[in-house]
Amino acid sequence: METIISGVGSYLPENAVTNTELAKRIDTSDEWIRSRSGIGQRHFAADDQSTSDMAREAAWNALEQAGLKPTDIGLIIVATVTPDKTFPSTAVYVQQKLGVPPCIAFDVSAACAGFIYAMNVAHSFITTGQVKHALIIGAEKLSCFLDWNDRATCVLFGDGAGAAILSGVPARTAARPRGVLSTYLAADGRLAKHLYADGGPSTTGTVGQVRMNGKEVFRNAVQEIAGAVFEVTERAKVSRHDIDWFVPHQANIRIIHSCAKKLELDESKVIVTIDKHANTSSASIPLALDIGIRDGRIKRGDLLVFAALGGGLAWGSALVRY
Ligand SMILES: CC(C)(COP(=O)(O)OP(=O)(O)OC[C@H]1O[C@@H](n2cnc3c(N)ncnc32)[C@H](O)[C@@H]1OP(=O)(O)O)[C@@H](O)C(=O)NCCC(=O)NCCS
Repeated sequence: METIISGVGSYLPENAVTNTELAKRIDTSDEWIRSRSGIGQRHFAADDQSTSDMAREAAWNALEQAGLKPTDIGLIIVATVTPDKTFPSTAVYVQQKLGVPPCIAFDVSAACAGFIYAMNVAHSFITTGQVKHALIIGAEKLSCFLDWNDRATCVLFGDGAGAAILSGVPARTAARPRGVLSTYLAADGRLAKHLYADGGPSTTGTVGQVRMNGKEVFRNAVQEIAGAVFEVTERAKVSRHDIDWFVPHQANIRIIHSCAKKLELDESKVIVTIDKHANTSSASIPLALDIGIRDGRIKRGDLLVFAALGGGLAWGSALVRY
């Protein structure tokens, strides 16, 4: 079996807030945010809009592109750090809202690396023959737990959702392999103190707010994201120079450029959405993928590499022949 991406979709809330608008509320400037991070604006969900509402919109778009119906889905994985409720999973609310009949549904918690974790897990379900079509979604309403007094952190994040349908198809023996070629996941809990939310049901009984040591996260992100790309290309025995598109987690343009340089990838091969979306955590890679596909840059047969690092610290990558 091969695991192909049969459809991709995304959703951004209507409310786009520019740096200049943000500077009216907190002590910052467009110049500071843009020069340090590459961010120009971010989208914020409405008060009554939940993570599963955004996930549902992205999922519909992915289903439509794949030409599939909700009844075709056998597995739903939502990667999120901002679930609708502490339990049950956001995945079951997405299932309910899409009208997917009983199937396997759960969330993964790997922060900004969540979509890569979800892709790896879904790939395993497909290649072991447990499901044919899996819906994987990265969806976040990060605006609900930002500390607006911490200006070095709150300006970096936004809300949104991105989804992909992974489908199992028989391998084509005569042709080059397609779909997911290799994946890599890792986490190091010793580094959890650098990026986390300072609340939780079993500790404070609150949701908490995002806390980040920006410099440490930056340093680890460049090292591990680039390392993760090396890892998947080696695992698939593919040359880095054959990569058509690098679709990295969108945390900071300086992190993206540093990784591209380490990987000797021309910047024209990198999908960048940070200027318009800011950091949407687990949603950022599928959002960027969807933009690249719908504007015609990413074409069927292209070799794509996804890589991300986030809270955990957790990181990972996936090499995919689209
Ligand atoms: C957060 C980040 C942009 C900060 O950039 P930096 O160059 O390290 O900036 P510093 O923290 O050293 O702050 C520099 C100055 O800017 C100020 N500053 C911080 N936030 C500011 C803001 N929003 N507006 C204006 N000034 C700000 C600081 O107070 C500091 O001033 P001082 O030198 O007078 O004390 C950067 O570390 C980063 O992007 N890290 C990675 C974060 C990330 O990607 N996280 C998610 C990963 S999933």
